[in-house]
Amino acid sequence: MKIVVLAGGISTERDVSLISGKQVYEALKRRKHEVVLIDVYLGYEGDISDIFETDKDWGKDIERIGEESPDISTVKAMRKQNDNALFGPNVIDICKQAEIVFMALHGDCGENGKIQAAFDLFDIKYTGTDSLSSALAMDKILTKYIFNTFSVNTPKSYILESEGDKTTPAFLPCVVKVNSGGSSVGVYIVNDKKEYEEAVKKAFSYDEKVFVEEYIKGREFTDCVIDGEALPIVEIVPVSGFYDYKNKYQEGATKEYCPANVSDEITKRIQDEAVKAYKALGIRTYARMDFIMDENENIYCLEANTLPGMTPVSLVPQEAGAIGKSFEDLCEWIIEISLKKYK
Ligand SMILES: Nc1ncnc2c1ncn2[C@@H]1O[C@H](COP(=O)(O)OP(=O)(O)O)[C@@H](O)[C@H]1O
Ligand SMILES: [Mg+2]
Repeated sequence: MKIVVLAGGISTERDVSLISGKQVYEALKRRKHEVVLIDVYLGYEGDISDIFETDKDWGKDIERIGEESPDISTVKAMRKQNDNALFGPNVIDICKQAEIVFMALHGDCGENGKIQAAFDLFDIKYTGTDSLSSALAMDKILTKYIFNTFSVNTPKSYILESEGDKTTPAFLPCVVKVNSGGSSVGVYIVNDKKEYEEAVKKAFSYDEKVFVEEYIKGREFTDCVIDGEALPIVEIVPVSGFYDYKNKYQEGATKEYCPANVSDEITKRIQDEAVKAYKALGIRTYARMDFIMDENENIYCLEANTLPGMTPVSLVPQEAGAIGKSFEDLCEWIIEISLKKYK
């Protein structure tokens, strides 16, 4: 197949996306597909008359993920195209040449449904769920409304309208979160009023919508639902601290156990809750739901990720591995189920 892998962009998860993109690109090439890897923001300024004939290693310059999320102003300065368009030079024309675009994007650039909506209008096929469910899942506050409506258990929370709103935390410890974050950027676990004030201030510097959640002490799990079925669950155990940006992407910083070492009953409850969350948000194709289980074995769903990471240490590839699917199998499986949207 002719496949464009789309990665990069200008979200805080840019670097993660580039690594996901490179992995997917290389895996699909090993399966003898005709593949190009394009940065959605930087585009490609060479000859695009037959992009799949271009003899180029598109993944060559992509290295590793840094300890912190990247500085986006440097990325913006790299582009000659002098406007605020998300799509860089030739991106749409290149994607039109593909039978499907593999969405290796993460965060508000690619995971929030806008690119999906644009692609629908251009009749470009893409992997992953549609624009509406992407937008809902990217919006953590709306997600929680939907979870509450459809009885998906989620931690108690309240919304902050502005930095000066509700200056005393309603529960402690608590978690201050930006509404449209990802990769734990803009997520702060706070233990006292002073930490709360600092966290609220930082959160509002990232996003105009901020909310506060009850902190759930317990074990963390995640589960991917693919084509409506739950994969084996993973338990996530950071070596130190919580599952923040650094612990997510530095090899060895977090221990992951897949399948998780819990009873069949707990596994089944988490899997059922994952499917319930997936359906409540109207997600199609695949998504990964994050959970915390407290000491009384209550399960709380934190969020749904509609374009979860596809890096070497990512969780969905581990879950697929637990049922005998290689990374290459997973990439082709995602393409196959994504094409079903168009039937
Ligand atoms: N209510 C909570 N209680 C305890 N830990 C939490 C809570 N919310 C988030 N966390 C921690 O922060 C991480 C990131 O939060 P999450 O809501 O999944 O945002 P992101 O979109 O950045 O992944 C979680 O994986 C978990 O380790
Ligand atoms: Mg998460």
